[in-house]
Amino acid sequence: MSFVRREIVIAPDQEIYTNLPNMHELINGRVAVERLPLVVMNRAPRILAFSGSLRTSSWNHRIAELSAKAASDAGANVTMLRLRDYPLPVYDQEIEASTGLPSHVVDLKKLFRETDGFLIASPEYNGSISAALKNVIDWVSRPEDGHPNLVGFKGKVAGLLACSPGRLGGLRGLAQLRIILSSIGTIVLPDQVAVPGIHDQFKDSDVIGDEGMQQAVERVGQQVAQVAAALGD
Ligand SMILES: Cc1cc2nc3c(=O)[nH]c(=O)nc-3n(C[C@H](O)[C@H](O)[C@H](O)COP(=O)(O)O)c2cc1C
Repeated sequence: MSFVRREIVIAPDQEIYTNLPNMHELINGRVAVERLPLVVMNRAPRILAFSGSLRTSSWNHRIAELSAKAASDAGANVTMLRLRDYPLPVYDQEIEASTGLPSHVVDLKKLFRETDGFLIASPEYNGSISAALKNVIDWVSRPEDGHPNLVGFKGKVAGLLACSPGRLGGLRGLAQLRIILSSIGTIVLPDQVAVPGIHDQFKDSDVIGDEGMQQAVERVGQQVAQVAAALGD
């Protein structure tokens, strides 16, 4: 829930009533500040959730799903995406110049344009993000007639996740993903989660064995939903 700050000025000789609904604080005994719900979006925020892995049984896809569920429970309208369903050539300016944007790029650009935020679970390959994820970002960042530059990224909120069997959980890749997305205008949430030892985490259930990690993954989903709603249309 978002709030707007409303100040109620009280005249010097006026008695101060402290039973205002939702009253939040008194400043110098003169101004009561009331917190009122602020409606900045009259619809559910739209979130696109995906992994940077093409693997059908990707661990990262699974944690993206967990976070997406939390975003959905927080009121977001979440679309799960599989990059595998959008095979693309490695970005090549000559392809773009000769045949234009591939149809899967046009489809992805529409999905990115129409979302308010992202949940991205990024596998770490050799200390960085996957080529597949960088390739999608590069293609989707290309201009398209009739649409503002970088419309698929600018002003949208992103929550970052990673997991790996390793001890850092993909943390190094997230640092780079943060720089890439920030450079094209995406508002990347300060909180992020990298789950280490992921191969030991999903034993016989759909939740992460480490309860703290499970909650952290859910929190990123909730925050993306809340911030996307607060940023408005
Ligand atoms: C080419 C390659 C490089 C990798 N480099 C790293 C790495 O730098 N750090 C790491 O934690 N795991 C690394 N891994 C292991 C991946 O974390 C692991 O394969 C993981 O399951 C991939 O994510 P996914 O399950 O979502 O597909 C690498 C795997 C591959 C195939």
